[in-house]
Amino acid sequence: MLSLISLAALVSVVHAKFHYLSTQNLPTYPNTEACIGLPVQYSCENTTVLTNSCCNVVQGGLVLQTQYWDTYTGLESQGQLLPRGSWTIHGLWPDNCDGSFDQYCDLSRQYDPTPSPSTLPDGTTVPSYKGPSVRTFIQDFGRYDLLKYMDAYWINQGAPNEDFWAHEFSKHATCTSTFDVACYEPGYQGHQEVVNFYETVTKVFQMYPTYNMLASAGILPSNTSTYTLSQITNALYSQIGAVPYLGCYDNGTILDEVWYFHHVIGTEQYGHFKTLNSTTPSSCTENGIWYYERTATSEQVVSY
Ligand SMILES: *[C@@H]1O[C@H](CO)[C@@H](O)[C@H](O)[C@H]1NC(C)=O
Ligand SMILES: *[C@@H]1O[C@H](CO)[C@@H](O)[C@H](O)[C@H]1NC(C)=O
Ligand SMILES: *[C@@H]1O[C@H](CO)[C@@H](O)[C@H](O)[C@H]1NC(C)=O
Ligand SMILES: *[C@@H]1O[C@H](CO)[C@@H](O)[C@H](O)[C@H]1NC(C)=O
Repeated sequence: MLSLISLAALVSVVHAKFHYLSTQNLPTYPNTEACIGLPVQYSCENTTVLTNSCCNVVQGGLVLQTQYWDTYTGLESQGQLLPRGSWTIHGLWPDNCDGSFDQYCDLSRQYDPTPSPSTLPDGTTVPSYKGPSVRTFIQDFGRYDLLKYMDAYWINQGAPNEDFWAHEFSKHATCTSTFDVACYEPGYQGHQEVVNFYETVTKVFQMYPTYNMLASAGILPSNTSTYTLSQITNALYSQIGAVPYLGCYDNGTILDEVWYFHHVIGTEQYGHFKTLNSTTPSSCTENGIWYYERTATSEQVVSY
């Protein structure tokens, strides 16, 4: 009888645990109760003082969603592949309203194994991080869905993806006021804001399907013909009503970056992103831009 009871108890514990793991994620949202009733204004456009930096993007209010077009990863043999038919995530950057920017704003949240720069303009050294990877932070919150998405779309070059994710959080997100630890009180769980930042990055990235916006205008990667800057710009402008920054290397001839600019109402986590013209001139030449095809073996089909 006793053993039957303990068996039943064991089964229910196992069941509860399984249920928890399969359907529940730990909450990662900030506390915005104090925001209710405050003036609602776009970052960098406010006409009255924004009094609560957890409710509005007070630091880093010119927000850039940045993407890469790489043709290989360098770690293909380890399964690091690019998503077919999609650009990849670079990050979500907090520029100040005047276009300047801060970096590594909170060294108590330094998770970047290879800080770049490793010395800040004021001489402060950014120590390299040697602890558990940010991948474990996401696992601790049960967010295997998010992790799968990030491994499909947020791809590093020549190093593991999690190193890149850590870099983006510690260099940039620590300078965005709505990801401050204080915004998650009371009841802050360690690294909650890191996971919440990664969720936010994937949300804003999904606003800009660059590959499809270009492809639908007839602009496909090609190793035999080039495009002009206005062809690429006009195709994106026709869909988003703003001119993003286009980045090219090799004297402006090889396209590999796009940055979408915004002001934000409310928090970056849940607020509205208004797309704006770039404040940075393109580094691409006017004519003869290569938008290269990827190496076939560097791509995989992704299902998202
Ligand atoms: C906008 O808000 C910031 C942060 O509170 C403040 O420093 C700035 O003075 C405000 N701008 C105006 C025009 O009130
Ligand atoms: C780079 O491009 C500019 C403008 O098209 C050209 O004048 C210059 O010669 C180029 N430099 C190199 C190193 O190709
Ligand atoms: C954005 O740039 C486009 C193209 O240069 C221009 O026509 C448009 O007026 C600009 N929009 C704003 C709000 O400045
Ligand atoms: C296209 O050219 C790029 C740049 O040289 C190269 O990396 C890539 O492998 C080429 N892709 C194909 C399909 O030939």
